[in-house]
Amino acid sequence: MAHTDDDHAHHSHSHAHSHTGGFSDDDAALAAVEGHHAHMLERVSALSDALLAAVAAGDAGTAYDEKANLVGWCEDELIPHAVAEEGPLYGPARETAEARLLVEGMLQDHQTIIGLVEELRGADGPRAAALGLAIARAFALHLRKENQLLFPYIVASPDLSLAKAVEGLEEVVG
Ligand SMILES: [Fe+2]
Ligand SMILES: [Fe+2]
Repeated sequence: MAHTDDDHAHHSHSHAHSHTGGFSDDDAALAAVEGHHAHMLERVSALSDALLAAVAAGDAGTAYDEKANLVGWCEDELIPHAVAEEGPLYGPARETAEARLLVEGMLQDHQTIIGLVEELRGADGPRAAALGLAIARAFALHLRKENQLLFPYIVASPDLSLAKAVEGLEEVVG
């Protein structure tokens, strides 16, 4: 039978979990970035807790696997996230007198966290567990500065746009 116009009404696919198409305003962008940070913190905390539990239980095999899981997540998620932020997000804010020192401090945080991941790669046992917790806590401290200091500054600045800065950055908005 002939099909009706209704058959064509459901062909527009919405990608609910992708924000790469852009944001209507800075508040929407801020909510997406905060949501992604919260998801990342949950993940790194779970992974470092799992590594600690395996080490505490004396289970060397599981500890080996959990360390590999944590290092893998840092390589696939954490470091690309930091690198993606440094250009379009940190860059324009760093050019302002008000945020320059904050951004330079945030860049030092990134280097410290990446250094901890490097150290974790070569560690095992209690040292690996300690480094895993250090990474999780350092990330928590860092993202609090982003969520509560840097991003609100960008949102409040008429010359800067958070929505524009994170457009297309899947590593930053999820
Ligand atoms: Fe960052
Ligand atoms: Fe971040």
